[in-house]
Amino acid sequence: MNIQFKIDVSSGLTKSPKTLPSKYFYDEIGDKLFVKIMNLPEYYLTRAEYEIFDTKSEDIIRKLKINPSDTIDLIELGAGDGKKTKTFLKVLLEKKYNFKYVPIDISIHALKALETSCKMEFSNLDIEIKQGEYFGVLEDVKTNKSQKIIMFLGSNLGNLEDEAAQDFLTKLSNALQVGDKIILGLDCIKPEEIVLPAYNDSQGVTKAFNLNLLHRINKELHADFDVSNFDHVPEYDEKTGIAKSFLVSKKEQKVSFNRDQTYYKFSKGEKIQTETSRKYNDRILQTLLRNTNLVQISKISDSNNYFNSYILERV
Ligand SMILES: C[S@@+](CC[C@H](N)C(=O)[O-])C[C@H]1O[C@@H](n2cnc3c(N)ncnc32)[C@H](O)[C@@H]1O
Repeated sequence: MNIQFKIDVSSGLTKSPKTLPSKYFYDEIGDKLFVKIMNLPEYYLTRAEYEIFDTKSEDIIRKLKINPSDTIDLIELGAGDGKKTKTFLKVLLEKKYNFKYVPIDISIHALKALETSCKMEFSNLDIEIKQGEYFGVLEDVKTNKSQKIIMFLGSNLGNLEDEAAQDFLTKLSNALQVGDKIILGLDCIKPEEIVLPAYNDSQGVTKAFNLNLLHRINKELHADFDVSNFDHVPEYDEKTGIAKSFLVSKKEQKVSFNRDQTYYKFSKGEKIQTETSRKYNDRILQTLLRNTNLVQISKISDSNNYFNSYILERV
């Protein structure tokens, strides 16, 4: 049993209001469901960021101020299936840049699949996969003195509450060397009619993704959640730019772990927050960068202005 998973679940379910950490969405089934989500008509985020890499990779490379003679570690945090990154890798390889691609992810299934597909698509790519958590990899980043480009795409930063995001960016800044760059993909604040369907698609894939967390807890922590007794409910506040996903108990119920004395009670309508997906504007990003040595050197947007790729430099 994954002891940290158990600790995190039990601490989340004893809080009021209850929470479960979104990083546990990504087991083998969760990874596959997320790839489906990225291809949904409502999930504009992937299409918008893909468009940026598909049409503006050369521009990004120029803004990064790198040379083919440099030796670079291209480190991607939470790489997932790497669909967007691959369009960028292709251009870097065509232009004969000298780099090693280091995708880091909490999910070993996602990493293995990414490694296999990269090896098939790019015979000359130097790739080294690493399983780990965002905060956990910072020590590695610090001790490795090579020139670095960090990719943090998919608005993954928005899964961290602002305080944690600020802390993460400060620690990342401290781990980097002067001149290192970050490509930070952030979803923009926009109207509810666009954002909310991205977390509540008509085919119910996002619902299955959210509920899969309970299936995973049943499987790995021997709990007895009756998953049909929970609903998927997303919310979005356009004023703050924060979207949240919840699992809502359809009735009063009790869930036990390990068929023992440990159980959690849920009242009818009680919510468990499973995910935060913050949306950004330039001002919010500047606030998060306040205590760092990172400066924004460029911002590249998609044609709808839905999504921004910010390029940050460690100064
Ligand atoms: C929303 S997906 C986005 C994937 C990719 N960045 C993209 O834009 O398509 C999030 C990815 O980050 C990984 N992930 C989530 N929380 C993580 C954490 N705390 N540390 C490392 N990886 C994490 C997940 O396994 C998943 O592959």
